[in-house]
This record gives sequence, structure tokens and C-alpha cells, in this order.
Amino acid sequence: MFLKERKILIGLTGGIACYKVPYLIRALRKHNVLVRVVMTRAATEFITPLTLETVSGHPVAVEMFESKELVGTRHIDLAQWPDLVVIAPTTANFLGKVASGICDDLLSTIMCATSKQVLIAPAMNPNMWTNPITQRNFKTLTDIGYLVVGPEEGEMACDQIGVGRMTEPEAIFEFINSYFKRTSKKKELEGKSIIITAGPTLEAIDPIRFISNHSSGKMGFALAEQARAMGAKVTLISGPTALNAPAGINTIAIESTADLRMAVKANFVNADCLIMAAAPSDYRPHKIHSSKIKRTNSDLTLELEPTDDILKEITSSRRKEQVVVGFALETDDAIANARRKLKKKNLDFIVLNQPSPDSGFGVDTNRVTVIAPRRKPVEWSLASKDEIARKMLELISKMF
Ligand code: CTP
Repeated sequence: MFLKERKILIGLTGGIACYKVPYLIRALRKHNVLVRVVMTRAATEFITPLTLETVSGHPVAVEMFESKELVGTRHIDLAQWPDLVVIAPTTANFLGKVASGICDDLLSTIMCATSKQVLIAPAMNPNMWTNPITQRNFKTLTDIGYLVVGPEEGEMACDQIGVGRMTEPEAIFEFINSYFKRTSKKKELEGKSIIITAGPTLEAIDPIRFISNHSSGKMGFALAEQARAMGAKVTLISGPTALNAPAGINTIAIESTADLRMAVKANFVNADCLIMAAAPSDYRPHKIHSSKIKRTNSDLTLELEPTDDILKEITSSRRKEQVVVGFALETDDAIANARRKLKKKNLDFIVLNQPSPDSGFGVDTNRVTVIAPRRKPVEWSLASKDEIARKMLELISKMF
């Protein structure tokens, strides 16, 4: 059911395992997969294009510049056509060519031109497989997201025993089937627009100094990455942090609590959810000195005024279906204080964290208690911020 009408481009490179590929093609076609085949010239030494034309039901492409069809752009057409590119078998030579961006025949040029998911099934002599150069090339490809099946351990065509056999066609078929099963599932937060705030705010004292806090932004950034992975459209509003802006997420940089308030207000109207993981300053200097405050021998008093409580203000005009989540950092009387905030700020739930060496500011792990109205607090055990983020977003996805 996940395979029906999927388009798979199968590329064969020159190895003895080529003789197994017709079995894979037959299994795919039995499940109504549309298959096209491209071979390197070396692959045609192991199996004829005629055999693959017969099992795939389509002409097989080998040459870059063939006069019969679509001469100029056939590599582009073939690169864009499939849902998945499968290179089986993948030789050491082909791994090296693709990892280095060499395009000297039709199949290697397709690899350079395609933006589609690629699956490789390496097959080679065990010494070639363990060669550090092959391993480096292999890593280059897996680092950029290539999927891999095999190679397997066993007896080789050269009588050697070791790792290097191509995975059997039935197992490659199963791998492809589960890939499509996995990617066909609707993601939990697809179609949802989520605002996540992160990091500290900076409240200027003079052109040189400011008031801030120890927030690292890690929890908010983890939430943004996980929400995106779960299919949400994410807007990350972040105070100054040492973290790199996550690729592909709309990130708005702010400094003060007033900036944060404006950015949240502007984006909340069209959002399905707001997660306030930022640590906004509750006070700011009453007056920002226009020039640097000079040192004297007397005491200096800074007069502070409260900033706006963004969550409290935002939830006073929220739509019923919008989900709003806050954090609470408490040092004393934690549960009671967090509950008070939950009520005062009219939140769907609040995530309480108490600062400790393995939880709270700056570290990659967190130990939190989740408190929702009329429910008992639920303690989550120590976990990475990514894991906490994923659990929080799963909870949110159930609330929609
Ligand atoms: N928050 C906010 N606006 C502020 C301060 C905090 O929206 N000016 C949000 C935080 O992002 C967090 C929640 O309110 O999600 C609770 O923040 P916290 O600092 O724990 O509580 P405060 O309301 O600031 O109360 P206190 O500092 O007295 O504990």
C-alpha cells in the first residue's frame, strides 16, 4: 500500500551482485512500483541491459549522450523523476566518484543532479570496504543523508570471507518498503504554526552595560528543531545566545523584553501554539543612560521598573483553540509557585524546572515537572533537552 505507484530509479554499478538486481526489480513491480534503470558501462559487463529492460518493462539508460532520446537533458529528467534513487550494487569506485562530485557518465551525473533521497547497497571485496578511503567516502555520503543497506558478512565471489556482500534483494525490498511506510505517515504537527521563544533578554543600562540572566536558549532551540521535525511551521524568537540559528527555521532576533513582547504579539494572531521558553527580564532600568556611567567613589543606585508580563497579556486575548505553554524556574516552593503562574497566566500547561548541575540553565539535560490545570503534577525523569522537547510537543499535538 505504501509502494503503489512510487517511482524508483535503480542504478547499477559494476559488481558481480548485479545479477541479483532483477529479483529486486521484479519484487518492486509486483507491488506496482514504477521502475526505471540506469547502468554504468561496467555494470553492463555483468548483466545485459536487455535483461533489465525485460524485467523493468522500460528501456535502460547507459550513455550520457545517446542519440535516440532527450539527448541534452536526460540526466536532469532522470534525476528529478523518482521518489527514491537506489544504487545496487554500489561499488567502491562509484562511492568515491559520488563523494567527490565526479560526473563522468550518465549515472554519476544523475547523482550530482538529483535532490531525491538516495539509498545505496554497497558491494565489494572486504579489503576494499574496510579501506579508510572507501570508509571516508562512505561517511561523506551518509553525513549528507544517504540511506544505506548492507553490506553483509559472508563468502565473496572472490572466495574471501568478510564484510562486503550486497544485501539480498528481498531484504533491500523490505528496507524500501519500510522507508516509504515511515515517510508516508502524516507528521504529528503538520499544518500547525508554532511560536517558540528562547534565550535571555538584555535590558540596557547605558550604551555599554545591561541586565540579563543565565538562559542559554538550549531548551527553546531544542523545541524549535523538534517541532520542525514533527512537521510544524516554526517561528523562533530568540534573545542573544551562543547557538547557531537552526537551518530552515524562521528566526527573529530580539534583545529586550519589550522587543520580545512586540515580536510575540505580531506573530501570535496567526499561530496555533506559543511556547514561552525564553527567560525575559522582569525588570529594566527606569532610565537608559545615553552615555557611559562613569565610575565614582560613591554608591550607585539603579532604579528598575517592571517589564510587561508577556504571557499574561497574550493569553487575555487568546482564541480558545490556541495552545499556550509556559516555563517556570523556581528555587523555592516550586510546585505551588508554578501552579500560581499556570493560573495567573492562563496556560494549558507549565513546565517547571529547578536549577541544578544537570538541569536548567546552560546544560544539555533537564529534569522537569509538567503541571496542567486540575491535574496532578507529573515528574519527568532526567533527559536530554531534545527528548524533553519531543515529549512536550507530543503532549501539545494531542491537545490540538
Ligand atoms: N514570562 C513572560 N513575560 C515576562 C516574564 C516571564 O511571558 N516578563 C514568561 C516566561 O517566558 C515563562 C513564564 O512567563 O514562560 C514564567 O516565567 P518566570 O520567570 O518563571 O516567572 P515570572 O512570571 O517572571 O515570575 P517570577 O520571576 O516572580 O518567578
